[in-house]
Amino acid sequence: MTHADEAPRTPRRVRINRERLWATLMELKEIGAYDDAATGLRGVRRLALTDADAEARRRCVRWMTDAGLEVRVDRIGNVYATRPGRDRSLSCVLMGSHIDTVATGGAFDGTLGVLGGIEVMRTLNDARIETLRDIEVGFFTEEEGVRFGTDMLGSAVTAGRIPLDHAHKLTDSDGRTVADELVRIGFDGPAHERRPAPHAYLECHIEQGPILAEAGVDVGIVEGVQSISWQRLTLRGEAAHAGTTPIASRHDAGLVAASVVVELRRMCDSGDFGGLRATVGNFDLGAGQTNVIPHEAVITVDLRNPDDALMTAAEQHLAGHVDRLAATHGVEVAWERMAKTAVVPFDAGIQGVLAETAEALGLPYVRAMSGAGHDAQEIAAICPTAMVFVAGEHGGISHTPREYSNPHACGNGTDVLANAVLRLADQP
Ligand code: GLV
Ligand code: MN
Ligand code: MN
Repeated sequence: MTHADEAPRTPRRVRINRERLWATLMELKEIGAYDDAATGLRGVRRLALTDADAEARRRCVRWMTDAGLEVRVDRIGNVYATRPGRDRSLSCVLMGSHIDTVATGGAFDGTLGVLGGIEVMRTLNDARIETLRDIEVGFFTEEEGVRFGTDMLGSAVTAGRIPLDHAHKLTDSDGRTVADELVRIGFDGPAHERRPAPHAYLECHIEQGPILAEAGVDVGIVEGVQSISWQRLTLRGEAAHAGTTPIASRHDAGLVAASVVVELRRMCDSGDFGGLRATVGNFDLGAGQTNVIPHEAVITVDLRNPDDALMTAAEQHLAGHVDRLAATHGVEVAWERMAKTAVVPFDAGIQGVLAETAEALGLPYVRAMSGAGHDAQEIAAICPTAMVFVAGEHGGISHTPREYSNPHACGNGTDVLANAVLRLADQP
């Protein structure tokens, strides 16, 4: 056993087992696998708290216990597994991410951070390394927000941003609640959701964008996450005959919804809202009949912005624009807030540990802001936090079965995770 009563002068170094990590990633992707008609590829559909998610959870728990870890589940279904350190009175170093996916997901989003964390534990076991602090690896419930409408749900509850009671009452499109689904799949754990604050949190995640690939590096150090705004917009007009109703007398909810999509793109292109990105991912015209003017349209609006003030300006502009359109077309407007998070900068000290680790491993890296949301942005509220990014192929495309990060890049990112965790877990 390697002992470290104090942080060793030269940090210990490990290399994870890349073949084992890859085999684990490939095994998990079979749970929830489906044939994607749009791409002709095999994708992953593992929405939170579905049967597929439950099976993937059980598989991860088995891998955790096989690695000799102590597993616990909390009241929002987050799962943590502990590798004890020598001084159990000290706070742990936590690694984690999520294993739920969007409906058109790939094999890497979230899972790399979880299975990479399990691989770190296996590697430390193989090397018979003891650490001063406990190390934990976890996965958080409903990171994607696709099923229950709010992203980063489990980590937000843990960090105290979303009350447990509110989270438990959220429903999916069939009216099933988070609480009932947790019970149904057997992951309504007893542990308190407001977990003890870790010494540090590290999340390894695919980048899901083009920055690393363009820089020609496998690894990124994440400086923070941009602001995210999710709203549901319901527009109510009046159904009427398509052939007989004069154009000037229509109350066409579909027309207003379509105009919102076009205005959002204009806002992004204008530069008036900085690096705004806007997406209408749901566009529902109800019955959708060829010869009936749509009486109702429901759309979702996803806004991202690396600047909080410009995010607010974009939301205000959009609200005013919708009000004007609605008045012109005699349509009623109802907004529902689904999610909103401000820009979250990550801890400079933890970023520094990641940078030193990458340098010691001889791995070139770039620093980047995250375009996507992550559990790390929530856990950052309770402890020093940062993330390692791993480059993806095809421009880093994600939320599609085309998502792919090669074994070499995944191995390099997980090596950075392992060695940074080792440094942090030896800090007195
Ligand atoms: C998480 O995948 C997000 O929507 O950014
Ligand atoms: Mn993710
Ligand atoms: Mn995702």
